[in-house]
Amino acid sequence: MRRILALCILCLSIAPATAQDAADTVAPEAAAEAGADSAFGSLSEPARAALATKAEGRPVLAEDWMVAAANPLAVEAGADVLRAGGSAADAMIAVQSVLGLVEPQSSGLGGGAFLVWYDAASGAVTTLDGRETAPLAATPTLFQDDAGEPLDFFDAVVGGRSVGTPGTPALLEAAHELWGTADWAGLFDPAIALAEDGFVVSPRLASLVAEDAERLGRFPATAEYFLPGGTPLAEGDTLTNPAYAETLRALATDGANAFYTGDIAQGVVETVRGAAGNPGLLSATDLAIYAVRERAPVCVEYRAHEVCGMGPPSSGALTVGQILGTLENFELAGGPDDVETWRLVGDASRLAFADRGRYMADSDFVPMPTAGLVDPAYLTERAGLIAGRDAALSEATPGTPDWDHAQAWGDDASIEFPSTSHISIVDSAGNALSMTTTIENGFGSRLMTPGGFLLNNELTDFSFATHEDGRPIANRVEPGKRPRSSMAPTIVLRDGAPVLVVGSPGGSRIIGYVAQAVINVVDFGMDAQAAVAAPHVLNRFGTMDLEAGTDAETLADPLGGLGFDTEVRELTSGLHVIAIGPEGLTGGADPRREGIALGE
Ligand code: GLY
Repeated sequence: MRRILALCILCLSIAPATAQDAADTVAPEAAAEAGADSAFGSLSEPARAALATKAEGRPVLAEDWMVAAANPLAVEAGADVLRAGGSAADAMIAVQSVLGLVEPQSSGLGGGAFLVWYDAASGAVTTLDGRETAPLAATPTLFQDDAGEPLDFFDAVVGGRSVGTPGTPALLEAAHELWGTADWAGLFDPAIALAEDGFVVSPRLASLVAEDAERLGRFPATAEYFLPGGTPLAEGDTLTNPAYAETLRALATDGANAFYTGDIAQGVVETVRGAAGNPGLLSATDLAIYAVRERAPVCVEYRAHEVCGMGPPSSGALTVGQILGTLENFELAGGPDDVETWRLVGDASRLAFADRGRYMADSDFVPMPTAGLVDPAYLTERAGLIAGRDAALSEATPGTPDWDHAQAWGDDASIEFPSTSHISIVDSAGNALSMTTTIENGFGSRLMTPGGFLLNNELTDFSFATHEDGRPIANRVEPGKRPRSSMAPTIVLRDGAPVLVVGSPGGSRIIGYVAQAVINVVDFGMDAQAAVAAPHVLNRFGTMDLEAGTDAETLADPLGGLGFDTEVRELTSGLHVIAIGPEGLTGGADPRREGIALGE
């Protein structure tokens, strides 16, 4: 087994801005119709029923176990493991290995992930950091041109320069070592069978391949797989991936070392360093020394609940926690239709994102005021800035959380796009798993390895600029450092027991999606499906984003009247939620994507 490093970050509650203007110049991953069950080939009766339940806008109910993820084939694989008595960690391995095949644009072996675990036996919450690392040869100017100017985003993304050392294979193994009960090798069987026998290309995968055909076509191995004969894969095509099956067999037999050393690792390194036009720096040593880090969770008190998630290098739990911890000072009594609710959520989010841009990064490399950022007294002070107003804040600036470090960071200038996938699982022993998993941009770096998987572009989650007004930026590139993330896999507890397992893809909008889902359940009493389907209203330190085609559009005039800049746009979350209550498990799968919740 590979090493899991246990590092204690502060075990406290938590919450953070970006180059939003630049990010908004490119549309998010397109939403695709969930499609009929036939869109996924031959599904089991329970999976077909789950798709139908979702289409009706109802939650899925279960007593014993449940899994919710982004593709029915992956959910089925996890359900089979849970039905056979496997743990949530076992089921996650089956789900992730199938997602890497059927939803390759979002996550896979070539990427990284964060995992939050509630252990039923001990009541403990643990987090595993399987984030990618910057190559040891990387320098802070990795994403700058010869004149020191930041590269154009996609010039940085596409090719080898953006590829960090993948963490997902090591994370799968670490989770199994800690919490697995099923035979490791067997957990890859569903994905191996689908890779060899073929799976049906889903509507979403087909539409994203068509949109990205030019970039996918730049690299021969990638083009051969996604654009066979020069034509983009089409919905309903049957696709095989024998190379991926071989990779999974090696993992099944030899564990994660099969990925980080030997032929698979060599294939990764050669693909990155040989990328035409934009080679990268990843080396065999970077792979060989990769280690998952076990970290203490960041937990924030919210209306008698504890909202727990992944601390640095993710900004997810800290920023979600700052938003909720600020809102804790208000009632939100008007509910989801009240403009005052969204004024408070919007400005609480702007304040949190201001802190995120100033302070949050990989705390193994830069000092961070982690505890101070989610100190209730600090958040009450921040809440005071937005209390009793009848207009939006004219500006939202970083605060001064309690911190014993003299360094003043510059504000971050990273660009983040939505991709990624989220898995929520509860097993029959009562363990809960929340994992957000990614290769960053849709199709990552666009580099396909000989092992049949895409490589991430996670390093573009670093700030391209190194300094702001002469002050260093906390999230600048450094060798071995993990790029700041927005991923917010979350488990909400009440009286020490889990009541909600939640997370979403969506770049830095993940933070708003997750905070809103928690509010929908805790404040507004929505069921799991209603909570994920509700129209999105969020703010990342810029415009108030209102979900197109929903009732959220009606907020444009009133919020504009309060002084917010508003924008109506697609907001393609991929929330997967399991609520745990006295009556059992209730699951919700985001209607904006193809996933389902399934349980018994
Ligand atoms: N690359 C998505 C995230 O880590 O936030």
